Amino acid sequence: MTAHAPATTMTVWSQSRYGGPEVLTAATVARPVAGDGEVVVDVAAAALNSADVRIMRGDPLLVRLAFGLRRPRTAVPGRDVAGVVSAVGAGVTAWRVGDRVAGELSGGGLGDAVAAPADRLVAVPDDLDLAVAATLPLAGGTGWQALDLARVGEGSRVLVVGAGGGVGTFAVRLAVLRGAEVDALCGARAVPVIAGLGARRAEDYRGADLAAWEADAYDAVIDIAGSTPLRTLRRLVRAGGAVALVSGGSNRVTGPLGRILRAAVLSIGARRALRPLAAVARPEITARLLALAASGELVPPVERTWSLSEARAAMAHVDAGHTVGKVVVVR
Ligand SMILES: NC(=O)c1ccc[n+]([C@@H]2O[C@H](COP(=O)([O-])OP(=O)(O)OC[C@H]3O[C@@H](n4cnc5c(N)ncnc54)[C@H](OP(=O)(O)O)[C@@H]3O)[C@@H](O)[C@H]2O)c1
Repeated sequence: MTAHAPATTMTVWSQSRYGGPEVLTAATVARPVAGDGEVVVDVAAAALNSADVRIMRGDPLLVRLAFGLRRPRTAVPGRDVAGVVSAVGAGVTAWRVGDRVAGELSGGGLGDAVAAPADRLVAVPDDLDLAVAATLPLAGGTGWQALDLARVGEGSRVLVVGAGGGVGTFAVRLAVLRGAEVDALCGARAVPVIAGLGARRAEDYRGADLAAWEADAYDAVIDIAGSTPLRTLRRLVRAGGAVALVSGGSNRVTGPLGRILRAAVLSIGARRALRPLAAVARPEITARLLALAASGELVPPVERTWSLSEARAAMAHVDAGHTVGKVVVVR
């Protein structure tokens, strides 16, 4: 009997132009090689985010300035990745073949393997499912950074607006774990999920009129929906409190820029801060999220798991905008 030769090709979902899920096609390509400072990760799971569909669509147009004018520079979507190291490039001492890792990359998760900068990865604890690990870096990291921006801690009273999706469910659970008292507005389907994460109150946003809610009731508001007027959000926080703006504005060209500028103007001399968030990949936060997940304190709600062969349908689901918790694509 002869040993099987290692595979030299692999399957990926890739795009050669901006557009909806129909631009994604399955292709057979050469397996990646680990360059200097890189490792190759055999992908076990990739969690999808609204960022993946914004980049797929190049929408708003501002996205194209950062990610490629005519098509995304990284043709294979999938930023949140977990898997096993299968090759190690020159200069990498932190990882060995067989290590279980997770991280937020510039893409590549919707394929069998991806070359990743070694310093973007963190170790996944032995007993943690790689599909759970994949949910954490981008959405969990954004929720974490939003809570930091609004200075949420022990005893804080927090309102999360738009709590039902990936970032929202992490923001709620992480605020609860910080010892905050959390109220949340989310879609009707997400209400029981949010209640299960430890929120004090979870309500359908469609029936809620925030302009009529009690003023000064919160230390922090985390706005992930981006559709409530800034003055309405600000009125809800006490003097010295803050509103973290995670999302904002649906302008086809400039996206959140208009809302960010309005927030800056409204914040001049104000005692209630409106702080736009620009979250970045932070491996040290991913490591802390992985530890919370391994301890069982953080159990990300996963709405549905799809196989790699169904990745286009998974992207279409996220593209539709009604994800509850996370969507994961597994091998
Ligand atoms: N600032 C940053 O650095 C940063 C980083 C990451 C993400 N983001 C932004 O954060 C947002 C969430 O990202 P994600 O990946 O978590 O998205 P996601 O998982 O696709 O979120 C979908 C959820 O949002 C809910 N939703 C939509 N509009 C709502 C509204 N007006 N009020 C309450 N809930 C609403 C939907 O509920 P229904 O189905 O009931 O409508 C659905 O449950 C996106 O806009 C993304 O661009 C910003």
